Amino acid sequence: MTSEQTTRRRIRLAIWTGAAAILLAAGAGALILRTDPLPAAPLASTIGEADIRSEFSLTDHTGRAVTEADFAGRWQLVFFGFTHCPDVCPTTLAYMAGVLDLLGPRADAVAPLFVTVDPARDTVPVMADYVSAFHPRLNGLTGTEAQVTDAAASFRTWYERVENETAPDGYMMAHAGHIYLMRPDGTFEAVFQEREQPPEDMATLISARMGAWGDR
Ligand code: NI
Repeated sequence: MTSEQTTRRRIRLAIWTGAAAILLAAGAGALILRTDPLPAAPLASTIGEADIRSEFSLTDHTGRAVTEADFAGRWQLVFFGFTHCPDVCPTTLAYMAGVLDLLGPRADAVAPLFVTVDPARDTVPVMADYVSAFHPRLNGLTGTEAQVTDAAASFRTWYERVENETAPDGYMMAHAGHIYLMRPDGTFEAVFQEREQPPEDMATLISARMGAWGDR
């Protein structure tokens, strides 16, 4: 082999190694994307906000059948997750509880809703136990698989069962991590993520939007 051939071969090898490294990194990134939390694309850029509606038929953590009509006239703070979630759900629910407390008297006009995407495990008593650990006013909502699917569809949110040998019962639920702020008429106002601002800022933003709504 001439030295020229050797050089060419080295260059080719370097290119392939680089490409493989990029593919590996992309693959690892994709894997991270597939597990909880899912760093979803900004919602407004991927779907029409007008399509997001608070419409559901579920059972609350006291065993009462509820629909969006039960929360009509109040703002809704809505988060989809599951009680076996190791990190994002407890972090986000604790954050939502903090926001509620920071809203002070305005929190009376806000219904905080935690909707499970894992109804097989998150039964009424499990939800009752779980939500009480975060905030006395937090509503835990569960239902049949079909009811949960429908609720998630009306909010245009995403979740998926992921088999995982190390997880309890051998699976996890991957899900988007958005906190929806829905208006008193059930239409979409805004979406937040816990990591994007401290609770003080989110409380201020909600307060401002509530004030602007009242001025309409
Ligand atoms: Ni979670």
